Amino acid sequence: MTIVPFVDLRAQARDLHDEFHEVFESVTSRAAYTMGPELKEFEAAFAAFCGCECAVGVSSGTDAVKLALLGANVRPGDEVFVPANTFIATAEAVSHVGAVPVFVDCLEETALMDAAALEAAAAEHEGSATAVIPVHLYGQPCDMDAIQEVADRHGLAVVEDACQAHGATYKGRPCGSMGVTAAFSFYPGKNLGALGDGGAVTTNSAELAERLRLLRNHGQADKYTHTLIGYCDRLHNLQAALLSVKLARLAGWNEARRAAAERYARTLQAIAGVRPIGRSDDATPVFHLYVVRLLGRSAAFRDAVRERLVEAGVESGIHYPVPLHLQPAYAHLGYRPGDFPVAERLAAEILSLPMFPEITEEQQDHVASALAAALH
Ligand SMILES: Cc1ncc(COP(=O)(O)O)c(C=O)c1O
Repeated sequence: MTIVPFVDLRAQARDLHDEFHEVFESVTSRAAYTMGPELKEFEAAFAAFCGCECAVGVSSGTDAVKLALLGANVRPGDEVFVPANTFIATAEAVSHVGAVPVFVDCLEETALMDAAALEAAAAEHEGSATAVIPVHLYGQPCDMDAIQEVADRHGLAVVEDACQAHGATYKGRPCGSMGVTAAFSFYPGKNLGALGDGGAVTTNSAELAERLRLLRNHGQADKYTHTLIGYCDRLHNLQAALLSVKLARLAGWNEARRAAAERYARTLQAIAGVRPIGRSDDATPVFHLYVVRLLGRSAAFRDAVRERLVEAGVESGIHYPVPLHLQPAYAHLGYRPGDFPVAERLAAEILSLPMFPEITEEQQDHVASALAAALH
Protein backbone atom coordinates (compact mmCIF):
# COMPACT_ATOMS: atom_id res chain seq x y z
CA MET A 1 0.00 0.00 0.00
CA THR A 2 1.23 3.50 -0.81
CA ILE A 3 1.77 5.38 2.45
CA VAL A 4 1.54 9.15 2.35
CA PRO A 5 2.72 10.95 5.50
CA PHE A 6 1.34 14.41 6.22
CA VAL A 7 4.86 15.86 6.23
CA ASP A 8 8.08 13.97 5.51
CA LEU A 9 11.23 15.66 6.79
CA ARG A 10 13.45 12.62 6.21
CA ALA A 11 14.20 13.37 2.55
CA GLN A 12 15.70 16.77 3.43
CA ALA A 13 17.69 15.27 6.29
CA ARG A 14 19.13 12.69 3.88
CA ASP A 15 19.95 15.24 1.15
CA LEU A 16 21.57 17.65 3.59
CA HIS A 17 23.32 15.04 5.73
CA ASP A 18 26.88 16.01 4.77
CA GLU A 19 26.30 19.76 5.01
CA PHE A 20 24.61 19.37 8.41
CA HIS A 21 27.62 17.40 9.67
CA GLU A 22 30.04 20.05 8.38
CA VAL A 23 28.03 22.70 10.25
CA PHE A 24 28.10 20.61 13.42
CA GLU A 25 31.88 20.17 13.15
CA SER A 26 32.43 23.86 12.50
CA VAL A 27 30.24 25.10 15.38
CA THR A 28 31.45 22.54 17.90
CA SER A 29 35.11 23.08 16.98
CA ARG A 30 34.74 26.74 17.97
CA ALA A 31 32.50 25.72 20.89
CA ALA A 32 30.72 29.10 20.91
CA TYR A 33 26.98 28.57 20.88
CA THR A 34 25.20 31.90 21.20
CA MET A 35 25.30 35.33 19.53
CA GLY A 36 28.03 34.32 17.09
CA PRO A 37 28.91 34.93 13.43
CA GLU A 38 26.60 32.09 12.29
CA LEU A 39 23.63 34.04 13.68
CA LYS A 40 24.68 37.30 11.98
CA GLU A 41 25.24 35.52 8.68
CA PHE A 42 21.83 33.84 8.79
CA GLU A 43 20.08 37.07 9.79
CA ALA A 44 21.60 38.93 6.83
CA ALA A 45 20.65 36.16 4.38
CA PHE A 46 17.12 35.83 5.76
CA ALA A 47 16.56 39.60 5.65
CA ALA A 48 17.64 39.60 1.99
CA PHE A 49 15.33 36.66 1.26
CA CYS A 50 12.42 38.61 2.80
CA GLY A 51 13.26 41.83 0.95
CA CYS A 52 13.78 43.48 4.34
CA GLU A 53 16.47 45.65 5.89
CA CYS A 54 16.81 43.60 9.08
CA ALA A 55 16.06 40.19 10.55
CA VAL A 56 16.58 39.31 14.21
CA GLY A 57 16.86 35.62 15.06
CA VAL A 58 14.85 34.52 18.10
CA SER A 59 13.90 31.37 19.97
CA SER A 60 10.53 30.51 18.35
CA GLY A 61 7.70 31.85 16.22
CA THR A 62 5.64 32.50 19.35
CA ASP A 63 8.44 34.62 20.81
CA ALA A 64 8.85 36.29 17.41
CA VAL A 65 5.20 37.43 17.49
CA LYS A 66 5.63 38.60 21.11
CA LEU A 67 8.79 40.59 20.30
CA ALA A 68 7.26 41.94 17.07
CA LEU A 69 4.34 43.29 19.14
CA LEU A 70 6.72 44.87 21.67
CA GLY A 71 8.68 46.33 18.75
CA ALA A 72 5.44 47.86 17.48
CA ASN A 73 4.91 49.45 20.93
CA VAL A 74 1.93 47.34 21.92
CA ARG A 75 1.44 47.88 25.66
CA PRO A 76 -0.33 46.06 28.50
CA GLY A 77 -4.07 46.65 28.28
CA ASP A 78 -4.05 47.44 24.54
CA GLU A 79 -6.37 45.51 22.25
CA VAL A 80 -4.94 43.72 19.22
CA PHE A 81 -6.97 42.32 16.32
CA VAL A 82 -6.28 38.66 15.58
CA PRO A 83 -8.06 36.42 13.04
CA ALA A 84 -10.33 33.81 14.63
CA ASN A 85 -8.82 31.23 12.28
CA THR A 86 -5.13 30.86 13.14
CA PHE A 87 -2.84 28.82 15.37
CA ILE A 88 -3.28 29.80 19.02
CA ALA A 89 0.29 31.16 19.25
CA THR A 90 -0.80 34.36 17.45
CA ALA A 91 -3.23 35.16 20.28
CA GLU A 92 -0.96 33.78 23.02
CA ALA A 93 1.74 36.27 22.05
CA VAL A 94 -0.78 39.10 22.44
CA SER A 95 -1.61 37.79 25.92
CA HIS A 96 2.10 37.41 26.75
CA VAL A 97 2.64 41.17 26.37
CA GLY A 98 -0.39 41.87 28.59
CA ALA A 99 -2.58 42.98 25.67
CA VAL A 100 -6.02 41.55 24.82
CA PRO A 101 -6.80 39.71 21.57
CA VAL A 102 -9.93 40.88 19.76
CA PHE A 103 -10.94 38.27 17.23
CA VAL A 104 -11.99 39.03 13.66
CA ASP A 105 -13.77 36.74 11.19
CA CYS A 106 -12.16 35.49 7.98
CA LEU A 107 -13.06 35.46 4.31
CA GLU A 108 -14.92 32.40 3.08
CA GLU A 109 -12.83 32.13 -0.09
CA THR A 110 -9.31 32.33 1.38
CA ALA A 111 -9.85 31.67 5.13
CA LEU A 112 -7.71 34.79 5.79
CA MET A 113 -8.58 37.90 7.85
CA ASP A 114 -11.56 39.77 6.40
CA ALA A 115 -10.66 43.47 6.00
CA ALA A 116 -14.36 44.49 6.11
CA ALA A 117 -14.80 42.63 9.42
CA LEU A 118 -11.61 44.32 10.65
CA GLU A 119 -13.04 47.73 9.71
CA ALA A 120 -16.21 47.04 11.72
CA ALA A 121 -14.19 45.82 14.73
CA ALA A 122 -11.77 48.77 14.50
CA ALA A 123 -14.68 51.23 14.55
CA GLU A 124 -16.13 49.48 17.60
CA HIS A 125 -12.78 49.40 19.46
CA GLU A 126 -11.59 52.86 18.44
CA GLY A 127 -9.21 54.25 21.06
CA SER A 128 -8.39 50.95 22.77
CA ALA A 129 -7.04 48.86 19.88
CA THR A 130 -3.47 49.66 18.81
CA ALA A 131 -2.44 46.87 16.42
CA VAL A 132 -3.62 44.21 14.00
CA ILE A 133 -1.96 40.89 13.17
CA PRO A 134 -2.73 39.69 9.65
CA VAL A 135 -1.75 36.01 9.58
CA HIS A 136 -0.57 34.70 6.19
CA LEU A 137 -2.17 31.36 6.98
CA TYR A 138 -1.33 28.20 5.02
CA GLY A 139 1.39 30.21 3.22
CA GLN A 140 -1.18 32.52 1.55
CA PRO A 141 -0.62 36.27 1.81
CA CYS A 142 -3.47 38.33 3.28
CA ASP A 143 -4.99 41.22 1.34
CA MET A 144 -2.44 43.61 2.79
CA ASP A 145 -3.57 46.75 0.92
CA ALA A 146 -7.09 46.43 2.30
CA ILE A 147 -5.82 45.69 5.82
CA GLN A 148 -3.27 48.53 5.72
CA GLU A 149 -6.02 50.94 4.65
CA VAL A 150 -8.12 50.03 7.69
CA ALA A 151 -5.02 50.19 9.91
CA ASP A 152 -4.14 53.68 8.62
CA ARG A 153 -7.70 54.91 9.15
CA HIS A 154 -7.74 53.71 12.77
CA GLY A 155 -4.10 54.24 13.80
CA LEU A 156 -3.26 50.53 14.11
CA ALA A 157 0.26 49.13 13.80
CA VAL A 158 0.39 46.22 11.35
CA VAL A 159 2.38 43.26 12.71
CA GLU A 160 2.51 40.39 10.21
CA ASP A 161 2.38 36.80 11.39
CA ALA A 162 4.38 35.20 8.57
CA CYS A 163 5.08 32.01 10.54
CA GLN A 164 3.61 29.92 7.70
CA ALA A 165 4.66 32.11 4.78
CA HIS A 166 8.44 32.14 4.19
CA GLY A 167 8.85 33.36 0.62
CA ALA A 168 5.19 34.08 -0.20
CA THR A 169 4.55 37.38 -1.99
CA TYR A 170 1.64 39.84 -2.24
CA LYS A 171 1.69 42.04 -5.37
CA GLY A 172 5.37 41.13 -5.64
CA ARG A 173 6.14 42.16 -2.04
CA PRO A 174 7.46 39.41 0.23
CA CYS A 175 5.50 38.48 3.34
CA GLY A 176 7.41 39.85 6.30
CA SER A 177 8.33 43.09 4.52
CA MET A 178 4.97 44.88 4.66
CA GLY A 179 4.21 45.52 8.33
CA VAL A 180 5.99 47.58 10.99
CA THR A 181 7.41 44.23 12.10
CA ALA A 182 6.78 40.61 11.13
CA ALA A 183 7.23 37.26 12.82
CA PHE A 184 8.51 33.98 11.36
CA SER A 185 8.68 30.50 12.87
CA PHE A 186 11.39 27.96 12.10
CA TYR A 187 9.56 25.09 13.80
CA PRO A 188 10.85 21.93 12.05
CA GLY A 189 7.78 21.36 9.84
CA LYS A 190 7.68 24.93 8.49
CA ASN A 191 8.77 25.71 4.91
CA LEU A 192 12.05 26.80 6.48
CA GLY A 193 12.49 24.70 9.60
CA ALA A 194 15.31 24.43 12.12
CA LEU A 195 16.26 21.16 13.82
CA GLY A 196 14.30 22.34 16.84
CA ASP A 197 12.57 25.61 17.71
CA GLY A 198 13.54 28.94 16.22
CA GLY A 199 12.09 32.14 14.79
CA ALA A 200 12.86 35.60 13.46
CA VAL A 201 11.45 39.11 13.54
CA THR A 202 11.87 41.21 10.42
CA THR A 203 11.63 44.97 10.02
CA ASN A 204 12.77 47.73 7.71
CA SER A 205 13.77 49.96 10.63
CA ALA A 206 17.38 49.63 11.81
CA GLU A 207 16.44 51.39 15.04
CA LEU A 208 13.65 48.92 15.75
CA ALA A 209 15.93 45.99 14.91
CA GLU A 210 18.43 47.26 17.49
CA ARG A 211 15.69 47.32 20.14
CA LEU A 212 14.63 43.79 19.18
CA ARG A 213 18.24 42.58 19.46
CA LEU A 214 18.32 43.97 23.00
CA LEU A 215 14.93 42.52 23.93
CA ARG A 216 15.83 38.98 22.79
CA ASN A 217 19.03 38.94 24.89
CA HIS A 218 18.21 40.23 28.38
CA GLY A 219 18.28 43.85 27.25
CA GLN A 220 22.07 43.56 27.18
CA ALA A 221 23.82 46.37 25.29
CA ASP A 222 27.33 45.48 26.52
CA LYS A 223 28.37 42.62 28.75
CA TYR A 224 26.38 43.05 31.98
CA THR A 225 25.01 46.43 30.93
CA HIS A 226 21.25 45.96 30.58
CA THR A 227 19.46 48.94 29.10
CA LEU A 228 16.06 47.20 28.91
CA ILE A 229 14.27 44.46 30.81
CA GLY A 230 14.50 41.81 28.12
CA TYR A 231 14.05 38.10 27.59
CA CYS A 232 16.11 34.98 26.99
CA ASP A 233 14.77 34.57 23.44
CA ARG A 234 17.89 33.92 21.37
CA LEU A 235 18.30 31.82 18.20
CA HIS A 236 21.39 29.66 18.76
CA ASN A 237 24.44 29.57 16.47
CA LEU A 238 24.01 25.89 15.58
CA GLN A 239 20.38 26.37 14.53
CA ALA A 240 21.27 29.56 12.62
CA ALA A 241 24.02 27.77 10.69
CA LEU A 242 21.71 24.84 9.88
CA LEU A 243 19.04 27.31 8.76
CA SER A 244 21.56 28.99 6.42
CA VAL A 245 22.12 25.62 4.72
CA LYS A 246 18.38 25.16 4.30
CA LEU A 247 17.69 28.78 3.27
CA ALA A 248 19.79 28.23 0.14
CA ARG A 249 17.24 25.55 -0.89
CA LEU A 250 14.06 27.34 0.16
CA ALA A 251 13.11 28.96 -3.16
CA GLY A 252 13.35 25.56 -4.89
CA TRP A 253 11.33 23.84 -2.17
CA ASN A 254 8.63 26.53 -2.39
CA GLU A 255 8.51 26.05 -6.17
CA ALA A 256 8.07 22.30 -5.66
CA ARG A 257 5.20 22.97 -3.22
CA ARG A 258 3.52 25.25 -5.81
CA ALA A 259 3.86 22.56 -8.48
CA ALA A 260 2.37 19.98 -6.09
CA ALA A 261 -0.50 22.38 -5.29
CA GLU A 262 -1.25 22.77 -9.00
CA ARG A 263 -1.26 19.00 -9.41
CA TYR A 264 -3.68 18.62 -6.49
CA ALA A 265 -5.94 21.35 -7.89
CA ARG A 266 -6.13 19.58 -11.27
CA THR A 267 -6.79 16.14 -9.78
CA LEU A 268 -9.27 17.23 -7.12
CA GLN A 269 -11.45 19.04 -9.70
CA ALA A 270 -12.96 15.65 -10.51
CA ILE A 271 -14.21 15.10 -6.94
CA ALA A 272 -17.63 16.64 -6.28
CA GLY A 273 -17.97 18.49 -2.97
CA VAL A 274 -14.24 19.14 -2.54
CA ARG A 275 -12.91 22.65 -3.08
CA PRO A 276 -9.35 23.83 -2.41
CA ILE A 277 -9.12 27.02 -0.34
CA GLY A 278 -9.07 29.80 -2.91
CA ARG A 279 -6.11 32.00 -3.73
CA SER A 280 -6.12 35.62 -4.76
CA ASP A 281 -4.64 36.80 -8.07
CA ASP A 282 -2.50 39.25 -6.06
CA ALA A 283 -0.78 36.45 -4.18
CA THR A 284 2.01 33.98 -4.84
CA PRO A 285 1.50 31.49 -2.01
CA VAL A 286 4.05 28.99 -0.73
CA PHE A 287 1.60 26.27 0.36
CA HIS A 288 2.88 25.56 3.83
CA LEU A 289 -0.40 23.63 4.00
CA TYR A 290 -2.73 22.41 1.25
CA VAL A 291 -6.23 22.87 2.62
CA VAL A 292 -9.49 21.80 0.99
CA ARG A 293 -13.09 22.26 2.08
CA LEU A 294 -15.61 19.42 2.21
CA LEU A 295 -18.44 21.72 1.18
CA GLY A 296 -21.50 21.76 3.42
CA ARG A 297 -20.22 18.87 5.54
CA SER A 298 -20.01 18.60 9.31
CA ALA A 299 -16.94 18.12 11.51
CA ALA A 300 -18.18 14.59 12.31
CA PHE A 301 -18.36 13.73 8.59
CA ARG A 302 -14.87 15.16 8.06
CA ASP A 303 -13.52 13.11 10.98
CA ALA A 304 -15.01 9.93 9.48
CA VAL A 305 -13.33 10.81 6.15
CA ARG A 306 -10.01 11.20 7.97
CA GLU A 307 -10.38 7.73 9.49
CA ARG A 308 -10.96 6.23 6.05
CA LEU A 309 -7.91 8.07 4.75
CA VAL A 310 -5.82 6.54 7.55
CA GLU A 311 -7.06 3.09 6.49
CA ALA A 312 -5.83 3.92 2.96
CA GLY A 313 -2.42 4.98 4.33
CA VAL A 314 -3.01 8.72 4.00
CA GLU A 315 -2.34 11.11 6.88
CA SER A 316 -4.21 14.42 7.05
CA GLY A 317 -4.59 17.39 9.40
CA ILE A 318 -7.06 20.11 10.41
CA HIS A 319 -5.83 23.70 10.61
CA TYR A 320 -7.65 24.47 12.83
CA PRO A 321 -10.57 22.50 14.27
CA VAL A 322 -11.58 25.06 16.95
CA PRO A 323 -11.52 28.80 16.14
CA LEU A 324 -9.70 30.81 18.78
CA HIS A 325 -12.79 32.60 20.14
CA LEU A 326 -14.16 29.18 21.17
CA GLN A 327 -10.95 27.89 22.79
CA PRO A 328 -11.26 27.21 26.54
CA ALA A 329 -8.12 29.30 27.15
CA TYR A 330 -10.01 32.38 25.90
CA ALA A 331 -13.37 31.60 27.53
CA HIS A 332 -12.85 34.61 29.83
CA LEU A 333 -13.23 36.93 26.83
CA GLY A 334 -16.91 35.95 26.63
CA TYR A 335 -17.23 35.00 22.96
CA ARG A 336 -20.04 32.63 21.92
CA PRO A 337 -20.66 30.14 19.10
CA GLY A 338 -22.09 32.12 16.17
CA ASP A 339 -19.87 35.18 16.78
CA PHE A 340 -17.67 34.37 13.75
CA PRO A 341 -19.83 32.29 11.41
CA VAL A 342 -17.30 32.00 8.57
CA ALA A 343 -14.46 30.81 10.77
CA GLU A 344 -16.83 28.36 12.49
CA ARG A 345 -18.14 26.92 9.20
CA LEU A 346 -14.64 26.57 7.79
CA ALA A 347 -13.44 24.88 11.01
CA ALA A 348 -15.98 22.11 10.35
CA GLU A 349 -15.28 21.71 6.63
CA ILE A 350 -11.51 22.07 6.25
CA LEU A 351 -9.09 19.22 5.72
CA SER A 352 -5.33 19.58 5.18
CA LEU A 353 -3.84 17.09 2.71
CA PRO A 354 -0.22 15.86 2.72
CA MET A 355 2.10 18.60 1.44
CA PHE A 356 5.90 18.74 1.40
CA PRO A 357 8.36 19.57 -1.40
CA GLU A 358 9.33 15.96 -2.09
CA ILE A 359 5.77 14.60 -2.37
CA THR A 360 5.54 12.46 -5.53
CA GLU A 361 2.91 12.44 -8.25
CA GLU A 362 2.11 8.86 -7.29
CA GLN A 363 1.55 9.87 -3.66
CA GLN A 364 -0.70 12.77 -4.71
CA ASP A 365 -2.74 10.52 -7.01
CA HIS A 366 -3.14 8.09 -4.14
CA VAL A 367 -4.35 10.91 -1.83
CA ALA A 368 -6.91 12.01 -4.44
CA SER A 369 -8.27 8.52 -5.06
CA ALA A 370 -8.37 7.73 -1.34
CA LEU A 371 -10.27 10.98 -0.73
CA ALA A 372 -12.76 10.23 -3.54
CA ALA A 373 -13.34 6.73 -2.12
CA ALA A 374 -13.71 8.05 1.43
CA LEU A 375 -16.33 10.57 0.30
CA HIS A 376 -18.46 8.37 -1.89
C1 LIG B 1 0.41 31.17 12.31
C2 LIG B 1 1.41 30.79 13.37
N1 LIG B 1 1.78 31.72 14.27
C3 LIG B 1 2.70 31.43 15.23
C4 LIG B 1 3.27 30.18 15.33
C5 LIG B 1 4.22 29.90 16.44
O1 LIG B 1 5.44 29.42 16.02
P1 LIG B 1 6.33 28.46 16.96
O2 LIG B 1 5.68 27.12 16.97
O3 LIG B 1 7.67 28.45 16.29
O4 LIG B 1 6.38 29.07 18.30
C6 LIG B 1 2.92 29.21 14.40
C7 LIG B 1 3.54 27.87 14.46
O5 LIG B 1 2.93 26.85 14.38
C8 LIG B 1 1.95 29.50 13.40
O6 LIG B 1 1.58 28.59 12.51
